Amino acid sequence: MQEDKLIFALPKGRILEEVQPYLDAAGIVPEPAFYDSASRLLQLKTNLPDMDIIRVRSFDVATFTAFGAAHLGITGSDVLEEFDYSDLYAPVDLNIGLCRLSVAMPESEAKKENPKSWSHIRVATKYPNLTRKHFAARGVQAECIKLNGAMEIAPSLGLARLIVDLVSSGGTLKANGLVEVEKIMDVSSRLIVNRTALKTMPERMQGWIEKFRSANVNA
Ligand code: PRP
Repeated sequence: MQEDKLIFALPKGRILEEVQPYLDAAGIVPEPAFYDSASRLLQLKTNLPDMDIIRVRSFDVATFTAFGAAHLGITGSDVLEEFDYSDLYAPVDLNIGLCRLSVAMPESEAKKENPKSWSHIRVATKYPNLTRKHFAARGVQAECIKLNGAMEIAPSLGLARLIVDLVSSGGTLKANGLVEVEKIMDVSSRLIVNRTALKTMPERMQGWIEKFRSANVNA
């Protein structure tokens, strides 16, 4: 781990718009390429000589930060629960990226289905650990097929009748003829820090935690 320069891992995608007010409040100004979707730069400078930003997928924000390749990051509570990394500390709920992790299936089947009768099911998901845990708690064995996106087309193509995925507006489910049948958890984005970084640079890391905790952002 580079001791002098902090690496801040941020998630790619639509969540970035909601992250920006927090960066502003914390006084972090990324170089212009950060806001240029055509730019392929993955590690970017900021106005702070001792901080760079990396742009990675939200699951990878947790992995980079857990292994100490990044010192701090922003990722969803869904990702944190899926991985359950012991080397991550998530001290601040940023109250952004609000959505839920749900079980969904084709609307036509949901009408005649009783989820209480399930004993063995097949589920397409990016969240195999959370999915297995959710169903195991009531004695249902979930066979998970891991996908990395576009879960919503799995039922119509016969890959799995059920999916477990994030739902925000519900538009993606609706457009693909699916309905939510169970909610697994509410999701929001958290500031995360690497526990070793917190131990070796307590004042510096606490300083950043406080900046994000006290940011007066109306998300
Ligand atoms: C997420 C999620 C759903 C969609 C739900 O995907 O996986 O597909 O958003 O949002 P909605 O309820 O508002 O339609 P995202 O667009 O983040 O891309 P991804 O498939 O790469 O994860």
